[in-house]
Amino acid sequence: MIRFFRVSKTYPGGVTALEDVSFTVAKGEFVFVTGPSGAGKTTLLKLMILAEHPDRGEILIDGLNITRLPPSKVPYLRRKVGFVFQDFKLLRDRTVFENVALPLEVAGYSPKRMEKRIRQVLRLVGLHDGYLGQFPPRLSGGEQQRVAIARALINNPPILVADEPTGNLDPELTIEIMDLFEKTHRLGTTVIVATHDTSLVARYRKRAIALRKGRVVEG
Ligand SMILES: Nc1ncnc2c1ncn2[C@@H]1O[C@H](COP(=O)(O)OP(=O)(O)OP(=O)(O)O)[C@@H](O)[C@H]1O
Ligand SMILES: [Mg+2]
Repeated sequence: MIRFFRVSKTYPGGVTALEDVSFTVAKGEFVFVTGPSGAGKTTLLKLMILAEHPDRGEILIDGLNITRLPPSKVPYLRRKVGFVFQDFKLLRDRTVFENVALPLEVAGYSPKRMEKRIRQVLRLVGLHDGYLGQFPPRLSGGEQQRVAIARALINNPPILVADEPTGNLDPELTIEIMDLFEKTHRLGTTVIVATHDTSLVARYRKRAIALRKGRVVEG
């Protein structure tokens, strides 16, 4: 499903964020990417959606070699990988409905199909229909992250990637959001969660790919 083979990434300015990174994630796995600040976790996740480009090595995502992907195929890649950020990245002046609808508009859904799918995915993340017309700044952090997860799942991607998704949440909300990732995983999605939070990794007992200074040291 996901394969990194000898991948390296150095940013302009000379910081080597990843060095000779190789690993495989099978279809349907739940994997943490761990490591202290600066270890390269975000860089690794960004490479999966070509938000950054590798300098060396090969990356395969769901059978697609993205290292040589023409720019015209990047939207196709992004539909395979739903992405969740620490700071939610919701549009503040758009409703929950509109935030979640954006990927469907791009995909050319009819309004009727769009509404049906949005209600379905919001229920999946535990938000009832009353949230549809609300604006993100009025919601709690946990609710905003649920909306962001709904947006990531709206196209039913085979892979869900989350970068420190509980970094801005208190311990109770952290558990709720992690339970939601587990539920998504049970429904068949391959899930990758990057976190520096070792207690989270200890609690959930999943496979962990551990990075130190851009290298895989475990996993
Ligand atoms: N756009 C960039 N330009 C230059 N250097 C960068 C850029 N993004 C990240 N880096 C550097 O690359 C290294 C890895 O950064 P990255 O953000 O991948 O680490 P991280 O493990 O996600 O850290 P954190 O836990 O703080 O989020 C760091 O030394 C960082 O300063
Ligand atoms: Mg990071």
